[in-house]
Amino acid sequence: MASALGMRTRPNLSSHVLWHAVTGPFTPKAGCFRLLSSTQSGEGEGRNSASLQGRTCMVTGGTSGIGYAIAKKFVQEGTSKVTLIGRSEERLETAAAQLRASTAKSNGITPEVEIVIQIGDIGKAGEWLRNLEKAMTDTDILVNAAGISHSKILPKTEPDEVSQILQTNLEGAILTSRAFMRAAIRGRVRSRSESPKSSSKPSKCIINISSLLALKGGVGAVPYAASKAGLLGLTRSLATEAAASMRDVIIRSNAIVPGYIETPMISDFSDGEVARLKDSIPLHRFGRPEEVADAAVFLAQNEYANNCVLNLDGGLSAV
Ligand SMILES: NC(=O)c1ccc[n+]([C@@H]2O[C@H](COP(=O)([O-])OP(=O)(O)OC[C@H]3O[C@@H](n4cnc5c(N)ncnc54)[C@H](OP(=O)(O)O)[C@@H]3O)[C@@H](O)[C@H]2O)c1
Repeated sequence: MASALGMRTRPNLSSHVLWHAVTGPFTPKAGCFRLLSSTQSGEGEGRNSASLQGRTCMVTGGTSGIGYAIAKKFVQEGTSKVTLIGRSEERLETAAAQLRASTAKSNGITPEVEIVIQIGDIGKAGEWLRNLEKAMTDTDILVNAAGISHSKILPKTEPDEVSQILQTNLEGAILTSRAFMRAAIRGRVRSRSESPKSSSKPSKCIINISSLLALKGGVGAVPYAASKAGLLGLTRSLATEAAASMRDVIIRSNAIVPGYIETPMISDFSDGEVARLKDSIPLHRFGRPEEVADAAVFLAQNEYANNCVLNLDGGLSAV
C-alpha cells in the first residue's frame, strides 16, 4: 500500500534542519506513515562513558509517560538516533521538541542525536508493515511501550474494545518485533556483502513494557491483563526463537513489568483510589517514569540480559 509511493532519498541532515518525507497515504485511521527528522550537532563530543553510545532505537508510545522517559534516558546515554512512534503528529512534534531541549541542557554538552517521528497507529501495524520495516533498518533497540488501558468489568466491555486493546498492546508489539527481525535479517545480508569480514556488533534488543496486571489479578482489566500477559509470552518465545533462527545476529528479548507509574494513563484515578492504592504498595508511592527508564537502559546495555523480566512495582508484587 504505502510502498507504492516509494521512499524519498534521504538528504544529508544538517543541524536543526527538518526533513519531511511523506511515505504513505495520509489516512490516519489506516495507519498513515510520515517521517520528520532533525539532527543536533553538538559543541562537544558527547559522553564517551555513555552506555548506549552510538546505538539507535525506536520507541512505540514515545510521546508520553514511560515511552518518552525511555527515549529521553536513551539520548542521555548516548543513543545516536531515536525514532518515536505515536498516533498524533502534534504530540510527536511536542515530544521531539522536548527531547531536543532536554539534550541541549544536559551538562552543557549537546550530543549528536537524530530524532525521527513516525506517525502511525500501532494497533493497525499490519497495514503499514513495509514502512515499519524500512524504518527499522539499522535499529538496534526496539521498545514496545505503546499501550492503552481501560477500566470496565468484562460483561460491560464491548467486543470492539477488547479487539482494540489486544491489537494495540499485543498484536502491535508482535508485528513491530516481526518487522525488527526482518530488518535485522536484511541488514545482516547487506553488511555481509558490504564488508564480508566485519567484526561482530553488539546485540540487538527488544524491550516490551508489560504490567503487573499480567501476573496479579485485578478488577476491570481483563483484556488489558491478557494483553500484558501475552507480552511476557512474546518476550520468552522471542528469546528462544531469535537464538534458533537468526544465526549470526543476536536479538535479546526482555520485559519490564511496572506496577503503578505516574503517567497520564493513571491520571484519572480518583483521590480515594490513589490513596487506597498507595496504601497497598509497600513503598507507599507510585513509581516515576524515569525509574522505569533506568531499567530499560540496563536491559539495553547488558549483553547477558535475555528473557530478563524486571518488575518495578514498589513491592506491590510481594503482597
Ligand atoms: N502508567 C502505569 O501505571 C503503567 C503500569 C504498567 C504498565 N504500563 C504500560 O506502559 C506503557 C506506557 O504507558 P504510559 O503509562 O506511559 O501511558 P501514556 O502516558 O498514556 O502513554 C501511552 C503511549 O502509547 C501511545 N499509544 C497508545 N495507543 C497507540 C497506538 N494505537 N499507536 C501508537 N501509539 C499509541 C501514546 O501515544 P499517542 O497517544 O500520542 O498516540 C502514548 O505515547 C503502556 O504499554 C502501559 O500499558 C503503564
